[in-house]
Amino acid sequence: MLHIHSVIRFIVIFGSVISVLLSLAGWFGNKEYSKGNKILNLVTLISAHIQLVVGLILYFISPIVNAASFGEAMKDSTLRYWKVEHMAMMVVAIVLITIGYSKSKRALASVEKHRTIAIFYTLAIIVVLAALSMSGRGLFGMTGA
Ligand code: HEM
Ligand code: HEM
Repeated sequence: MLHIHSVIRFIVIFGSVISVLLSLAGWFGNKEYSKGNKILNLVTLISAHIQLVVGLILYFISPIVNAASFGEAMKDSTLRYWKVEHMAMMVVAIVLITIGYSKSKRALASVEKHRTIAIFYTLAIIVVLAALSMSGRGLFGMTGA
């Protein structure tokens, strides 16, 4: 599970980055919101949702999450990170991607679809990178490999 979760991280991050770059190109280049744009943004959304499900399973089986009670975990920055901060920040990021995708889906004009993806997915990337930089494992570190 840790290995799968570790690998899906790359799909979520690179998917979001490419979605943002293409949506910026669409927004500022006044391009039509193409089928390709939609598929890419959807694949990014789905990877984030799968990451949520795998993360939740991992949460219940992870030795580091279950090493201490909430009260004890609060006093240790590593235990607190995995018990509380990682999950909370990542859920916020996944919610941002989900809101962005559904708002973009409901928007009528192409430029608005592109702009919504660009803004919400960028915010999600910032939260994910911030969370991973707090993890002590680096942005691309893999202990689960
Ligand atoms: C705990 C698990 C999950 C939760 C809480 C969740 C929640 C959501 C929510 C709130 C939406 C937005 C609905 C909307 O506003 O249109 C959504 C959309 C979606 N989710 Fe999930 N999801 C979960 C797991 C998954 C999984 C495992 C997959 C795929 C393997 C998935 C695929 C999708 C797709 C494809 C959409 C977008 C459909 C569309 O609007 O075109 N989700 N999900
Ligand atoms: C965008 C979403 C997420 C990303 C990018 C992400 C990324 C990561 C990364 C990179 C690791 C370390 C992997 C390794 O050491 O090889 C990790 C571990 C973990 N993640 Fe996530 N995660 C996300 C969402 C979540 C969510 C929503 C949860 C819980 C509901 C969660 C729970 C965990 C747990 C329990 C661990 C393992 C700690 C351990 O036993 O070492 N993650 N995650």
